[in-house]
Formats: sequence, structure tokens, C-alpha cells
Amino acid sequence: MPKRPPEATPIPDSSLRPNMHKPGAPLPDEPTPLLGNRTPRQFMRRYWQKKPLLIRQAFPGMKAPLSRDELFELADLDDVESRLITHFRDTWNMEHGPFASDELPAVKKREWTLLVQGVNLHDDRAAALMNCFRFIPDARLDDLMISYATDGGGVGPHFDSYDVFLLQVHGKRRWRFGAQRDLSLKPDMPLKVLQHFEPEEEWVLEPGDMLYLPPHIAHDGIAEGECMTCSIGFRAPSTRELTAQFLYHLAERMGDTPANAKAQARYRDPQQEPVTKPALLPQLLLDRVGSILADIKWTEKDIAAFLGSYLSEPKANVVFDPPERALNQKKFVERAKKAGLTLDRKTILLYDKTSYFVNGEAEALTARAKKWLPELADARCLEGKRFVTLTDDSSMTSLLHEWYCAGWIKLDSLI
Ligand code: SIN
Ligand code: CO
Repeated sequence: MPKRPPEATPIPDSSLRPNMHKPGAPLPDEPTPLLGNRTPRQFMRRYWQKKPLLIRQAFPGMKAPLSRDELFELADLDDVESRLITHFRDTWNMEHGPFASDELPAVKKREWTLLVQGVNLHDDRAAALMNCFRFIPDARLDDLMISYATDGGGVGPHFDSYDVFLLQVHGKRRWRFGAQRDLSLKPDMPLKVLQHFEPEEEWVLEPGDMLYLPPHIAHDGIAEGECMTCSIGFRAPSTRELTAQFLYHLAERMGDTPANAKAQARYRDPQQEPVTKPALLPQLLLDRVGSILADIKWTEKDIAAFLGSYLSEPKANVVFDPPERALNQKKFVERAKKAGLTLDRKTILLYDKTSYFVNGEAEALTARAKKWLPELADARCLEGKRFVTLTDDSSMTSLLHEWYCAGWIKLDSLI
């Protein structure tokens, strides 16, 4: 791949922030610089989904988790979602990646932005950064996007439908934002740009500073010189999306097997009279279908099964990397006893009282699995020492070996 000429000051090679000593989030009642010395409980009560919060030095000594060139390399991969946004005389342009590095504008050129989505799925440093936000349930976590912008670059004034922490990791960005009512968009734009933007506040963020924005707050961030920003985003599916997906889940659950007579039954109309208006929908059809639909029942268990499977489903472009030469189960167990194991960055593992959900699959949480699975799901890793205490459960070792062969877990614990 051709290397980019060193035209502008390169973003220094990354490292984890110095105080990122463990891959975890603050405890609910632990005051933390991440939230401006508030506790997660105070933050959730006062700000979460309620109002913006500017946090100076949320990450003291912050450095970009990826260098500029590393970000450009990610944007060149097929399984990474990236977008290039350029701005010229009130017109916005958007192109979708992948982008070979020589397809991106020169870094000396002003006013362009590269957005790379799901960086936490591809890079341990980004995944570790995202872990700091796990005082919010994983079911709400979406991804970590990194934007790179040259001077004057931005994506235009807009609003998002999700909660976001905008963390400045390199250079400066001027943010303007406000809770305006008029959220109408400019017509015929390739991206959402507000027709009228009336910011109420304005701040320049430097590395380590962070801005939390709840959904629907109008905002615009403009790079002051070359800059990089991490957006830690939280998904909030719409009622329409949840309804459609739940109804689909219920239909799937009904199955289509010969044993399931109800799902197999077809519409019948032995009482249908001859008609003179053949195009008119028959009342009989409306009544029958009405009673079929009124018959659909569900319980909280169905809702949990739906949510667990739906929210643990990897995004469409996610591809797991199974080990090239997988160890057999015996060797895998020996290695895990020494080194421990970690969920792959791309694995989503959720659980409730009776089930667990891994990468879109739902399984019963047996009494034996209750001893270790919630622990693995919450910590996302098991230390070797802990693994040793569990190995008398052969169902656990064979399940974890399967996950390892599928690329869902990796040997070595992060702790
Ligand atoms: C950006 O980082 O350039 C845009 C992020 C956002 O406004 O949501
Ligand atoms: Co935004």
C-alpha cells in the first residue's frame, strides 16, 4: 500500500492513556475524572438522556488510540464501514469506503473528514477505551467511531438519535450545540444537515476533553487544525424497529415444522358466498385474519429472548477470525489454565436470569453455566487461575473450545 507523504505533522503513535490501568469502568459510586469527578450514579441521574455535559480532562494525558495512518489503513478494509465527507460552498458530499490511502484527499487540503465506524471491533486500544463506559449496560453500547478532520473539517450542523460521548483525542475541535426545537433538515443532501442551526453554547475541546450529548441535541464540531475525535455511541432502537423485529422474532418462534399445526394452518373460507364486486376485500377475510392476529400471545420470556438475540447480533459487516491452526480441546484447556481467555472484541455476550445470548444465538443458562458465564460476560475475560477452578465442568470447557474455534474468544486474559 503506498505510504502517504508526511505533509502535515503526523499524529503521534498511540498508547493507552496512562491511567487506564484496567479494562474496566468506574463503580456506580466512585467519583471519576471521566465524568468530571462525578460518580456514574450522579451522571446517570442528572445528565444521561437529559442534558449535555462538558467534561474537561475526562482522560488526562489523552493520546489518539490510533495514529492517523493506522486509521487510514482501517478505512481501506472491506469489513470496516467508513465515510469521507467534504464540504464546499454550502454543499456537502459523502462517499462510502473502503478508501485506498491514495483515494483520500491530501492531509494539507482543508475541510474534509474521514469517519471510521466500529473501531473498537478492530483495535484493542479502542476497545479498551470503550470499556471505560461499561457503567452503562452493554445492551445500549453501540460502537466507537473515530473521525479524522483537516482544518475547518466537520460533518455540518446536525442531530443524532442516540447518546454520544465526543472525546477529543488529538488537536482541537470547536463544538457548538443547543436544544433547538426546529430539527428540519436541508433538502437533497447526502447527509443530515440542519436547515437552521441555533447553538446556545460553544466550547473548544482539547485532547482529553469530552462532551456528552443526549439524543436530538443539535450540534456542529469544526476542526481547528488537524484533529481526531472519538465518538462513543449508544444505540436506541426506534419503536418501529423494535416492533418490526419483535413480530419477526415471534413469527420465527412459531416455526414452520409439520409439528406446529397452528403455524401450518392456512386461511380457510368454506362459508364464502359468491360476489358481484370481486375487487372488494371480503369481510370474512378481515374477521378471520383479525382473530388470528388477536391470538398472538407473548410473555416477558419472549421479550427477553427477542432482546437478547437481537441486541447480541453482530452488525452485518462483522466477520470473526477463527484461529488459523486451532488447538484441540485438551491443549486449549491447558493453555487457558495458564493464560486465561478473553472474549473477542467482536463478541457480544449478554445474559438474563434464564438464558444467555452470544452473537445472536440464545441458549438456556443452566445451573452449571450460572457459575461462570455471567462472570465472563461482565468481565469479558477469565483469568487462568479462575479457569482452573472451573475445569471440572466439561460442558464449559467444550463450549468455550467451540467459541475459540469460531473466533469468538481468544486465549490470554487482559487482566
Ligand atoms: C465528528 O466526529 O466529526 C462527528 C461526530 C458527531 O457529530 O456525531
Ligand atoms: Co453527531
